[in-house]
Amino acid sequence: MWKLTGNSNLPIYLQIVDLIETKIMNGELLPEEKLPPERQLAEFFGVNRSTVVRALDELTARAVIVRKQGSGTIVNAEKWGLFAGQSTNWRHYLTQGGFTPAVPYIRQTGVMERADSEQVIDASTGELPLEMTPKMETPSLSWQSFIAEEQLEDEAGYRPLRETVQKQMHDAYGLNARPEQIFITSGAQQALFLITQCLLKPGDAVAIESPSYFYSLSLFQSAGLRIFALPMDDDGVIISELRDLYHKHRVKMVFVNPTFQNPTGLVMSLKRRKELVKVCAHLQIPIVEDDPFSELAALDSEIPVPLKQLDSDNVLYIGSLSKIMGSTTRIGWLIGPTAVIERLALARQEMDFGLSIFPQVLANSVLNTAGYKEHLKQLHQVLAVRRDHLIAALEEILPNELAFIRPKGGFHLWVKLPVEFRSICDFDIFLANDLLVMPGFLFGVKETVIRVTYARLEKDDSRQVANIIKQILIEKSAMKLD
Ligand SMILES: Cc1ncc(COP(=O)(O)O)c(C=O)c1O
Repeated sequence: MWKLTGNSNLPIYLQIVDLIETKIMNGELLPEEKLPPERQLAEFFGVNRSTVVRALDELTARAVIVRKQGSGTIVNAEKWGLFAGQSTNWRHYLTQGGFTPAVPYIRQTGVMERADSEQVIDASTGELPLEMTPKMETPSLSWQSFIAEEQLEDEAGYRPLRETVQKQMHDAYGLNARPEQIFITSGAQQALFLITQCLLKPGDAVAIESPSYFYSLSLFQSAGLRIFALPMDDDGVIISELRDLYHKHRVKMVFVNPTFQNPTGLVMSLKRRKELVKVCAHLQIPIVEDDPFSELAALDSEIPVPLKQLDSDNVLYIGSLSKIMGSTTRIGWLIGPTAVIERLALARQEMDFGLSIFPQVLANSVLNTAGYKEHLKQLHQVLAVRRDHLIAALEEILPNELAFIRPKGGFHLWVKLPVEFRSICDFDIFLANDLLVMPGFLFGVKETVIRVTYARLEKDDSRQVANIIKQILIEKSAMKLD
């Protein structure tokens, strides 16, 4: 029903904005659904057409709707700019299902992974395979001695581990953080979650790299944030685009993954890092620097210093052990101003009484073991070999057909295919061919591009990946001819 309730003190145009947003949230208006014409809406609401135009302008600025010349106004089908909720109340998440369930492609990928069939090639899971996790022994402690370590823990985590992270960050990057500026989290994911819940409010605009791993996370939408795409070139995010986004949408925070970006594998250049921290400091936009691959980067002298090193006040730095010790370790850390750390640590304390002492003690012990550096070195070597095998296989089996940039590190190769897929269902062809890859749409891009994760691929697997892609390209071009 296109009717205003009439019991609001808001200006009429904002009541129209609210009504349309509510219809989208309730599912009454679906992505890509066309809105009635302006004249008709004005009649429904009993207002001037200019009031409707003002409301639609506001919704367009929020990227909730898209106005297309000649074809009217439609509900934005993408997550970019989506306004996804009014409340940050926990109960709301639980009862209203604030978290969006995985898209069918991801659900199907999960089913195929779990089936663990010999036939299926997993080039999608961004997790460290078991054989590449550390082979070092963990200390054998009695239950009581674990619990006793709690004396060394406060809301921000186990102090010896915070000191270890402090030393590690200093040795690797010359980063000078004090232990009270370091917060141990349950992986990078929890740090991101707490930032979106505690430092931002529903309706706030945030800019994230496009493409981005963040796009695949429902936590931004669940916090009711409007996410805007920050385009990148080979050097990283484009600064003029950030300025535009800031002026158009009052961006409140920028999220970047500057080293071995997921999914592109790109490393933001030093020049771009400097420009980014400078412009963000000037516009007073805090930066979240998500850096789960940092330890691998530390072995590579070509990797520029973290943003945190360039501007210690305005950057929240996130690290993680997931990519070097296995993601079920669930140890990450956030480095930021003491006041922010205290606020987030208290929020976590309210949510789940803090972090378990067990992984913190074990991680601290392993990080201080002599074999740890050796483990990193081996990991670095194996990943480089696997990356080179994949690239060699693609170049040999599909010469000059694919476009990709050789990543300096990380887990992923971002591959542009020489075909056009008209809808996201077209990507099901990979699943039908028993090849699990991550399609570009999961990272917020429309092009026919896939993320191929080489971390798990042996040499033969890489050749098979190349052969399957070749087969898919043949099938696709045959379909076009039909
Ligand atoms: C860029 C990026 N950030 C954060 C995460 C989440 O890491 P964690 O396992 O530490 O929560 C991932 C995991 O793949 C990632 O790729």
